[in-house]
Amino acid sequence: MAQIFPRWTNKIPFMIGVGAPVVLCGVVFFVWYYFSPKFLEVGYQPEQPVPFSHKLHAGALGMDCRYCHNTVEEAGHAAIPPPATCMNCHSQLDLGETAARFQPVKDAYEGKAPLEWVKVHMLPDYAYFDHSVHVAAGVGCVSCHGRIDQMEVVYQHAPLSMSWCLDCHRNPEPNLRPKSEVTNMTWDGTNPPYDWSNDPHRNLGPDGKTRAVDPPQHCSGCHR
Ligand code: HEC
Ligand code: HEC
Ligand code: HEC
Ligand code: HEC
Ligand code: HEC
Repeated sequence: MAQIFPRWTNKIPFMIGVGAPVVLCGVVFFVWYYFSPKFLEVGYQPEQPVPFSHKLHAGALGMDCRYCHNTVEEAGHAAIPPPATCMNCHSQLDLGETAARFQPVKDAYEGKAPLEWVKVHMLPDYAYFDHSVHVAAGVGCVSCHGRIDQMEVVYQHAPLSMSWCLDCHRNPEPNLRPKSEVTNMTWDGTNPPYDWSNDPHRNLGPDGKTRAVDPPQHCSGCHR
């Protein structure tokens, strides 16, 4: 009798048996890997209503972060500046051809229409975070937000995942700096070498070098 199916088709059940689990594992891995916070959020860069550039203002113009984010040392949240802060300079600046880009800030300042910046960083409500504690301990903005002074448009630099928080909480020393340098984007303590013994804010740790800080690792420290 003539064969209806060519001989190679005998292998199909075998190929399905082996292939399906491999494909399934691949899908599981893909979902687990790419949808975990690291890949869902790092690099998140929403478009903003006004093309405000940190690269220009914090980088080229050298403005300190606290000129605009002025609550970061006292409060849990770092305030986003109101239009009036921008107008301190922009009421006297003529942007010429690009003036239209700034118009939404002016409108907001004059009370014509609200200006709503799109939030970039967002922790879930069940996780407690406070800026002032970190800044007071001498953790620099750059440790968590990256080189904001080089960003034309802000994006999320770190995963903000639980393991990311804990990595630093277990070993904070390499991320500590004198409090006067918290907003410095390039400080690394080597040029010139920083003398911790003269740090006015020092609160020496057991190694005589770093501040004695005690970041929580227990669940209720961050889940209150
Ligand atoms: C001239 C005012 C100004 C200065 C100076 C400034 N920022 Fe901002 N920053 C803003 C505004 C306005 C936004 C909201 C729009 C945006 O995301 O670009 C913002 C957003 C941010 C965000 C994202 C907030 C979010 O939505 O999650 C971070 C982080 C940030 N700034 C950090 C810094 C750091 C670090 C510095 C200093 C190196 C700095 N900023 C200097 C005005 C400023
Ligand atoms: C230890 C890590 C860490 C440090 C240091 C840090 N930030 Fe943040 N920042 C965060 C996290 C986490 C969020 C998201 C907070 C949330 O969603 O509740 C955030 C959010 C922000 C926001 C958005 C508004 C808000 O509070 O949610 C701004 C603006 C900001 N940071 C600016 C700064 C500036 C300026 C500095 C330095 C003076 C700084 N941050 C230092 C972790 C840090
Ligand atoms: C310390 C003064 C100062 C403050 C405060 C300030 N700016 Fe500026 N801004 C400047 C200067 C200087 C320029 C460059 C002007 C030029 O290019 O001729 C500029 C340029 C701009 C531009 C045009 C960029 C382009 O692409 O042409 C925008 C938009 C802008 N700023 C938005 C803002 C916003 C929003 C705020 C408030 C969060 C703000 N600025 C606060 C000084 C300031
Ligand atoms: C780069 C280092 C670093 C990262 C990243 C970091 N922390 Fe911390 N955190 C510290 C240090 C240092 C302290 C200790 C402050 C002290 O003991 O004075 C601290 C203290 C705390 C405290 C105790 C302060 C209080 O109010 O009781 C909480 C809560 C906290 N961190 C939450 C978080 C969360 C949530 C994240 C992640 C979203 C995070 N931290 C990421 C360094 C870090
Ligand atoms: C240093 C701060 C910190 C500590 C300590 C901490 N967590 Fe978290 N946890 C977080 C943050 C931040 C998130 C949110 C992560 C995200 O959005 O991806 C989180 C998320 C979670 C989640 C949600 C699932 C997940 O993984 O995203 C659970 C469950 C959880 N934590 C349980 C715990 C338990 C149990 C402990 C104690 C063993 C603990 N946490 C200690 C910061 C912390």
